[in-house]
Amino acid sequence: MLTWMDSLRGRSLMRLTSFTDEEMLDLVDLAGQLKARRRAGVRGDLLHRKNIALIFEKSSTRTRNSSIIAARDEGGGAEYLTRPDIHFGKKESVKDTARVLGRIYDGILFRGFAQKTCEDLAKYSGVPVWNGLTDDYHPTQILADLLTIKETFGDLRDCTVAYVGDGRNNVANSLMMGCAKAGVRYVCCTPKELWPDEAILAEAEEVARRNGVDVRVFDDPVKGVKGANVLYTDVWVSMGEEAKTAERIKMLRPYQINMDLMRATGNIDGKLMFLHCLPAFHDFNTEVTKESGALEVTDEVFESKYSKVFDESENRMHTIKALFVSALCDRKNV
Ligand code: CP
Ligand code: NVA
Repeated sequence: MLTWMDSLRGRSLMRLTSFTDEEMLDLVDLAGQLKARRRAGVRGDLLHRKNIALIFEKSSTRTRNSSIIAARDEGGGAEYLTRPDIHFGKKESVKDTARVLGRIYDGILFRGFAQKTCEDLAKYSGVPVWNGLTDDYHPTQILADLLTIKETFGDLRDCTVAYVGDGRNNVANSLMMGCAKAGVRYVCCTPKELWPDEAILAEAEEVARRNGVDVRVFDDPVKGVKGANVLYTDVWVSMGEEAKTAERIKMLRPYQINMDLMRATGNIDGKLMFLHCLPAFHDFNTEVTKESGALEVTDEVFESKYSKVFDESENRMHTIKALFVSALCDRKNV
């Protein structure tokens, strides 16, 4: 028997503050239940006759495939729509596209540039809209991260997450808020030029205080990671920022997660894991790194026993499924 909060019905996710702390943690819990259900071989009909539009302005491996399979596993459907496929933002405004798709689909997952586009889709479509990454936030990623931490350590209590890298990107912004809401201590290690936006930081600090934890920002990664249980990083150059590649690599080289930094936590023989939302530049096997080699994380850390990146990646599917099911499922099917 699956359980989740009634208040999640019909809800959109613009950013993690779209949900109360309790609702966010309930979604993580539901994802765990759905994961166990799938592992037991159950493919049900929780999303029977529910259709989801996936509007993608940026590339994706995990979010796209997780959404398609999440819907399909439970008897629903998902249609992948890129900008060249539809009139979106070219011959037709976001507002009109939202109104059209809202008449056809039961929900919309959006990945793109402007946060406002995601908010306008929610405002005008009349159906739940989920943010699958914008320039500012990546909330569905953090649901998967929290599930991975909970599974690996048993719970989210007494845990410090240290994010090392570009401290003001979409993942960092959402991770900071996700930790604050979950009562997890958060440390951001990033150069002064990339410190989190003041308003976003202040908001997370307030939520963290309410939950008895703190949010701290360091420019010295070795000092910052001391006592951390999770070392987390993301690419140094996010989608849409490619022109800044050379500058970022120079600026962030001292922020690479390597075994020395893992040791600097003081927890190398204890409670410690490595997370990365992926894709990751950890070896020479990509177009970007074929000459430079590893960037934000070394291959040694990426392939180590501390690395839970593929659990994290799998959990994208279970957490996105939890969003779809909690918002759309007619509870009589459960
Ligand atoms: N982590 C993540 O969002 O991956 P994709 O870009 O592959 O969807
Ligand atoms: N910050 C990265 C996350 C990719 C999942 C980007 O926006 O490209």
